[in-house]
Amino acid sequence: MSSKILIIGACGQIGTELTAKLREIHGTNNVIASDINTRALDPVNAGPFEIIDAKNFNAIKDCCINHNIDTIYLMAALLSATGEKYPMEAWDLNMNSLFHVLNLAKAGTIKKIFWPSSIAVFGPTTPRENTPQHTICEPTTVYGITKQVGERWCEYYFNKYGVDVRSIRYPGIISHKAMPGGGTTDYAVEIYHEAIKKGEYNCFLSENTSLPMMFMDDAIKATVDLMQAPPEHLSIRSAYNLSALSFTPKQIFESIKTQMPDFTIKYKPDFRQAIADSWPSSINDSVARKDWNWQHSYDLDALTTEMLKQLKEKYKNES
Ligand code: SER
Repeated sequence: MSSKILIIGACGQIGTELTAKLREIHGTNNVIASDINTRALDPVNAGPFEIIDAKNFNAIKDCCINHNIDTIYLMAALLSATGEKYPMEAWDLNMNSLFHVLNLAKAGTIKKIFWPSSIAVFGPTTPRENTPQHTICEPTTVYGITKQVGERWCEYYFNKYGVDVRSIRYPGIISHKAMPGGGTTDYAVEIYHEAIKKGEYNCFLSENTSLPMMFMDDAIKATVDLMQAPPEHLSIRSAYNLSALSFTPKQIFESIKTQMPDFTIKYKPDFRQAIADSWPSSINDSVARKDWNWQHSYDLDALTTEMLKQLKEKYKNES
């Protein structure tokens, strides 16, 4: 029997592409997209869509009952940079939405949950290189605190109530469809847009800040693979480390410059530099590779080629 899925936060950067992929796998009418507004049009126009505020327990519950939902992907969150501006809002949204879906699973209304964690669970005291699955996690951002605490609650609900919740510590995700919003790794998406639109970019991180990153196609594949893995293969019920590549603003600039020789960059670090400095530069994901055969496909130059190709097309059609 095919799964009946609700995606909360379907109009966000990851939600948009996850919705399309899950509709392809499970059938359009088996995937209900929802968001607090309709800022991205693909999830709204391409299948069933409902306006749902992730903080509203009854709205989520009613949707689950009306559509016989068995699986929720909870993609709504305030990210690292926005979270520093609005700490209480980040706490309120990120934690309450998670409790809503965990409690629906505990009550038996739904059977399975995907909830994304992040490299933001790590902090300045974490080993920066090749960061292990199990290590010191002392996050210094509100976003990181919500993800770290969320991981603890996911594991608790699994151990205590048998809730089948699965999670990944996403690195920065690079994509060309919906824009990311309010994250520290967003520069690695903006830079491609500005390269095409203006031929220059003002980077809000310094040139040698190395962060873990991943192309969207790999992130979606990881999400689908983890959700399809047999439960007995999963040794982690907090969140899996996940890695593809790491690069600095200077390295992404040079990768773009090989295809756009006139492209220029200036570095003007702002408050997001301190956030980036508190995170690892590379991640050890050997547990994900062992438990559910995770493998990435895109390296930096493959990613640059794809981003420039897609964005040239997009802006050509818009002009
Ligand atoms: N991309 C996120 C951020 O920068 C990290 O999970 O906030």
